[in-house]
Amino acid sequence: METSSFIASKASPINYSSTWEAPSNIALIKYWGKHEPQLPKNSSLSFTLSSSKTKTKVIFKPHPKNEIDFEFYFHGIPKPDFKAKLNSFFDRIHTFIPWIFNYRLEIHSENSFPHSSGIASSASSMAALSLCIMDLEQQLFPEIKQAYFFNKASFLARLGSGSAARSIHGPVSLWGKNKERKKSSDLYATPFGPSLNSVFHDYQDTILLVDKGSKKVSSTQGHSLMHGHPFAENRFIQATNNLSALVPIMEAGALDDFIHLVELEALSLHAMMLTSNPYFILMQPNTLAIIHKVWEFRKETSVPLCFTLDAGANVHLLYPKQNIELVHSFIKQELSCFCQNRQYLFDAVGTGAKKV
Ligand code: PMV
Repeated sequence: METSSFIASKASPINYSSTWEAPSNIALIKYWGKHEPQLPKNSSLSFTLSSSKTKTKVIFKPHPKNEIDFEFYFHGIPKPDFKAKLNSFFDRIHTFIPWIFNYRLEIHSENSFPHSSGIASSASSMAALSLCIMDLEQQLFPEIKQAYFFNKASFLARLGSGSAARSIHGPVSLWGKNKERKKSSDLYATPFGPSLNSVFHDYQDTILLVDKGSKKVSSTQGHSLMHGHPFAENRFIQATNNLSALVPIMEAGALDDFIHLVELEALSLHAMMLTSNPYFILMQPNTLAIIHKVWEFRKETSVPLCFTLDAGANVHLLYPKQNIELVHSFIKQELSCFCQNRQYLFDAVGTGAKKV
C-alpha cells in the first residue's frame, strides 16, 4: 500500500465514542535511526506485550470549527502539558483523516504500568489513540476492510512514534521493508503470521526496573544522532541481516540462536549510543550486573533465559513459559537487589490491541 491510499475523504460528522486498549512492545531487532516522515532506516521486529498497555477512550463531538480541537486527560486529570506532543501528532496525520476537522475530541487515557517506571508509553498510547480514530473512520466509511483498518491504524501510530506502529498486532510484529517478508512495509507494521513457533506465543518478559527516572537522552535525540554516525550504515545492514536471520529461528523455535541474536541486538543498540557524537550511556552499573548474572545463570542451569534492552537502563528478561518457576526464584533471590525499590513487572507476549 502507498501513502496516498491512506488519505480518507471528508464526511459529515456524527456523535461517537470509542475505547481501545493497545499494548506496549519490546523490540528484538531494534529500530534506531530514521528519516522523514518517521520512516525507519532498517526493519525491526518486536514482541507485543500483554499486561503493559494503554487504554484510551475518545469522545468525538461534532463541531464545525475547521481546526483540530481536543482535550487530554490522563488517569482522569486534565494534562495540558501533553498538548504539544498531540498537536504535532495531529499535524502529521490530519491529511489522512480530513474528516477530523469537524470534531472536538475528549481523549481519556490511562496506563496499566506505573507512570514513572522508565517504560515508554508512547508506543501503546499512540497505537490506542490511532485505533480510536480508525474506529470512527470505519463508522464514517463502512466499506473499509479489516486489513486496511489495521494497516492504517499502524500507519497513523507510526507518525506519532515509530515503534508505536508495532503496538497493533500480536504476538510478534514486524515493521520496515525486508526482502524476506513480502508484505513488510516501511509505512506500517505487519504481524509475523502463523509460521511463528508456538514457544513464542506465551514467551515471558519480566521487566527489571533498574532506573525509573526519565531518560537523560530522549529516543528522538538518539535517532537523530544516527545521522552522520560513523557506524550508521553498517548498523542498518547488520539489523536488516539480523532480522532476516531471526525469522527462520523464530519459526523453528531454535532458542540458542534466538538468544544469541537478541542479546547481540540489545548490545549493538547501546553500542550506537556509546559511539554517537556526543556519546552517551543509558545503561547503569546495575544493568551490567544483571547481564553478568543472567549469563552465569544460563551457563549453570542451561535455562534459555536472555535479556534485551530498550533505550534505557531497565532490563527485559525473556524466557519460555515452562521455565517460569526457576526464573522467578532467580529474579527474586539474585536480581531484585539491582532494581530500584526491588521493583520488577511480570509481562508476557500478548495477542495485540483490542476494542473495549
Ligand atoms: O519509537 P521511538 O522513537 O521511541 O524509538 C524506539 C527505539 C527503541 O525502543 C530503542 C527500539 C525499538 O525498535 O523499539
